[in-house]
Amino acid sequence: MTNPARLALSLLLLAVLVGGTGCGLVGWDWDTKMTTVIPKSDFGRMTHDIFMLISWWTLGIFIVVEAGLLYVCWRFRDRPGAPIPKQVHGHTVLELSWTIAFAVILVIIGIPTIRVIFKTQEAPAATALHIDVTGKQWWWDFRYPGLKIHTANEVHMVVGQTVAFHLHGPDVIHSFWIPQLGGKRDVVPGRVNRIILTPETPGEYIGQCAEYCGVSHANMRFRAIVHDKAGWEKWVASQQAPPLEPKDELAVKGKEIFSQSACVGCHTIAGVSAGVLGPNLSHFGSRGTLAGAILPNTPANLTKWIENPAHVKPGALMPNLGMRDEQTKALAAYLLSLK
Ligand code: CUA
Repeated sequence: MTNPARLALSLLLLAVLVGGTGCGLVGWDWDTKMTTVIPKSDFGRMTHDIFMLISWWTLGIFIVVEAGLLYVCWRFRDRPGAPIPKQVHGHTVLELSWTIAFAVILVIIGIPTIRVIFKTQEAPAATALHIDVTGKQWWWDFRYPGLKIHTANEVHMVVGQTVAFHLHGPDVIHSFWIPQLGGKRDVVPGRVNRIILTPETPGEYIGQCAEYCGVSHANMRFRAIVHDKAGWEKWVASQQAPPLEPKDELAVKGKEIFSQSACVGCHTIAGVSAGVLGPNLSHFGSRGTLAGAILPNTPANLTKWIENPAHVKPGALMPNLGMRDEQTKALAAYLLSLK
């Protein structure tokens, strides 16, 4: 192949690559549950702005470097009979300028990055909603000390009110992340990290542990629910009320089984038991998911979970209590009645 033909082919390949990627990005559906590019909180927006700043700078640098590279390849290409080019070593002005130019770019990126890091973990305002988050293998515990609410795997907020998450880690390092609301930030044993954010749009968002923490790391999920004002007041009232007493026969039987089994050693149900190793179940029936938010909270899934937790979530610390079919059905009916 001649040199011009080789050059033309290279340019064509580059065009296909850039064009193809570009079209792919334009046609891509960005609005997914785990997206970070359609932020729904101030923290999410600040992080996204930095991401875009870096992306535009990177694109500019890419264009300048590639244009220079292509020009040099073309200008100094080998020609038949051409003499060996002048040999040079080092160029002080060039070397100084590209060192300084990139240092300046790093400063431009660094200043807003550091500002956002500090802003999103500063001491919260007194009006902020304080939530204690505890990451455990492999589920999330949520306490609202000001509201005296204790729940798990579902964290509720209200649109427009700043939330101060205080992150506690009693076992290994986890990472608290709600992609659309911002994050992620590590949950480190022995210290309390903070995330300060203000949710801007009501909705249900997906949360995920983002630091490898053992065999069921991928199953350590949660839901973040941002309410409007009316929905929030309703949720707070329902969580502060004592759990409903079971009415139908099966659920009543389930309560009896729960109270007399090893369940009480690990789980709290207000007025019934006081265990703290596993999630608080006082209002379990009001939750949309179970087992670290990996399954919809249905009778069938709950029965499957109670019968063999480790089968649903590998490594789960909840033991298989060897219950009979009718016992798990009754237990499930009772737990789902706890609205
Ligand atoms: Cu917790 Cu990964």
